[in-house]
Amino acid sequence: VYTINDHNICCIVNSDVVYNITNRLHSCLFDGNTKNIYIIGTGLIGTSLIKRIHNISITDYTFNIIATINTRTMEHEDYGTHTSDLNRFIEFVLTDTYNNKIVVDCTSSNLILNYYDKLLLNNIGIVTPNKKGNTQSYQSFLRYTSYISYKYETTVCAGLPIISTLKNLLLSGDEILSIEGVLSGTLGYIFTQYNNTDKPFIDIVKQAEQLGYTEPNPLDDLNGVDVMRKILILARICGISMELDDVANELFLPPNCINSKTKAEFYSSLHECKPEKKAGFDIHYVASFKQNKASVGIQYVNKAHPLSGLKGNDNMVIITTKLYFKNPIVIQGPGAGAEVTSAGVLSDIIQLTF
Ligand SMILES: NC(=O)c1ccc[n+]([C@@H]2O[C@H](COP(=O)([O-])OP(=O)(O)OC[C@H]3O[C@@H](n4cnc5c(N)ncnc54)[C@H](OP(=O)(O)O)[C@@H]3O)[C@@H](O)[C@H]2O)c1
Repeated sequence: VYTINDHNICCIVNSDVVYNITNRLHSCLFDGNTKNIYIIGTGLIGTSLIKRIHNISITDYTFNIIATINTRTMEHEDYGTHTSDLNRFIEFVLTDTYNNKIVVDCTSSNLILNYYDKLLLNNIGIVTPNKKGNTQSYQSFLRYTSYISYKYETTVCAGLPIISTLKNLLLSGDEILSIEGVLSGTLGYIFTQYNNTDKPFIDIVKQAEQLGYTEPNPLDDLNGVDVMRKILILARICGISMELDDVANELFLPPNCINSKTKAEFYSSLHECKPEKKAGFDIHYVASFKQNKASVGIQYVNKAHPLSGLKGNDNMVIITTKLYFKNPIVIQGPGAGAEVTSAGVLSDIIQLTF
């Protein structure tokens, strides 16, 4: 029950939500532009985010990093430095009396997901580049994404505006007919090099590793699982109830590579991998979503296809809709890297409302 006039708002609410609602009202009316941030994971992205926040010159917002944690230590502005203890860290987040609390999950760990529901229920925002949350069961995806305080733009192609573009198209009543693209900078680089040089495939993979483009074991890029997760997220945003196992993955690696347990074993079989080249076509590792089906694997694209223009380790996403049919939307650019990803994470932090 509520009454409104020009000067006051009066609400009667259950006692168990008084704290949340007071908090929410306070942040809307008084300090919506202050963001109190708890960072889980201080690796490449977490560290870049911390630097970005310290160097930022946006005067409209105040960013307070209240606490950080990695697998070894945790630091809290008020309680000092301790050995890492995720339960205790989350307890700090839940009980600290700041408004506008945001947890930034900069890990690729499944463990953090155990706390997502509790945090969101307690009106604490979550911003994450970690794909794991969105690629568990479809039910948990629906649950997390039902909160406006859950932001995850950087889970697909880092800072490129893929998820927001899809959402805006859907909100405006357009219909997504297909999504296709190169969603991995590593695989984009490897196949662009393979198309444009005569180097053996294995040499190109080694070169990509030396340049720091691959995971510590390149199998984790080449098995396509990361790309499966990304196309699954996009399909789910389009409203499709789908699980990771529903994404078809046409493996192009020899079985010995796929089943290898170590990097040495992986490389010892990779020399057998020689994807066939076809005159007039480029090979790319393409993720597709069309007619409610998602797949990842090698595709041959002719020289007129937008993917043929892919450069370096860029990503490219082509979205065909009812409105953008003749000339689909093409989004291209770096889809990984500390700087662009942490900038995307910060943009989510800024846009997050409770
Ligand atoms: N790198 C990119 O360009 C990029 C682009 C888009 C999205 N992403 C996503 O962003 C996330 C972070 O990537 P990254 O490259 O920064 O990874 P990273 O360098 O490996 O850093 C991961 C961090 O998470 C911490 N961590 C792992 N498990 C933890 C746990 N249980 N409790 C507390 N801390 C934990 C690690 O702690 P230690 O330091 O103690 O090991 C480390 O600090 C990943 O999900 C990745 O897929 C990355």
